[in-house]
Amino acid sequence: MTDLGATIQRDAEGRLRHLITLEGLTREEITAILDLAQFYVRPPGELPARDQSLAGHTVANLFFEPSTRTRVSFEIAAQRLGAEVVNLDMQTSSRVKGETVLDTIYTLQAMHADILVMRDAEPGLPAYVAQHVAPHVCILNAGEAHLSHPTQGLLDALTIRQMKGDLTKVSVLIAGDIAHSRVARSAWQVLSTLGVKEIRIAAPDDYLMPKPREFPGAIRETDIDRAIQGVDVVMALRIQRERMSSAQIPDESAYHDQFGITMERLRKARPDAIVMHPGPMNRDVEIASNVADGSQSVIQRQVANGVAVRMAVLATISRNVQARRQFQ
Ligand code: CP
Repeated sequence: MTDLGATIQRDAEGRLRHLITLEGLTREEITAILDLAQFYVRPPGELPARDQSLAGHTVANLFFEPSTRTRVSFEIAAQRLGAEVVNLDMQTSSRVKGETVLDTIYTLQAMHADILVMRDAEPGLPAYVAQHVAPHVCILNAGEAHLSHPTQGLLDALTIRQMKGDLTKVSVLIAGDIAHSRVARSAWQVLSTLGVKEIRIAAPDDYLMPKPREFPGAIRETDIDRAIQGVDVVMALRIQRERMSSAQIPDESAYHDQFGITMERLRKARPDAIVMHPGPMNRDVEIASNVADGSQSVIQRQVANGVAVRMAVLATISRNVQARRQFQ
């Protein structure tokens, strides 16, 4: 079944107007975004890339779920492209007085905010909002329930491409609480479209394992020691406690023993395997602290790439809006 977001996010000419999901993006579209993101990457210690792609635009960050990396990197990305940025503090916004999300959106729209970055626990909300905003307003999904986190998927793909080159030769293990993970779903979408050689998904039990139809073609494994054998990339995922009842939350120590990415387990992957984690990490639960900080970890590179990818997405969307205006 096609995700509604995949249809909604394109304008009448088929250009990306919003970014709701990575479903339906072509290999060429994804590669163009990754190439532009790479253009914006600067080595540590150098001044960051800047241009005026978003001059005159106002970007509003609406995070109805907590975030550090995604919210701050969208803010930095928008500023480095010359936009004005507004961060709505949801604890003190009128949503706590019962205002609907659409009324909040219409309020920001009336103030000429034209790029709205949204995170919410409700499935379908970004697509719903995208159907209701004015024609010049763009919605960027910054994390939708367990379903979609498109810019995270793009930054993960960029990181793997930088470290491993040709993705068609790369074997990727995504390990942990896959069932509740929007990161896993977006990673699977982008990596499959880019033709990665193999994707393995590993979760310790049926509760944390997604339905096969959600990851068609992925190799499924419940034994982490088997799953990690010979892979090029290990992507560890956090247990999404916020999507579980207290009775469903696994015991952390037992989970680490059974399923955590430890140095001993990492030695079963390829010697040059990289270790990824989207953050925030639960150290010594899904990933051992010495693995997270070890020489194979690219976790801080993922964070740095997050800014470059969000600059590339913002610049692409704004270019498409300008192209549409020229034909109106
Ligand atoms: N990876 C990620 O989405 O992190 P934040 O929750 O800190 O934004």
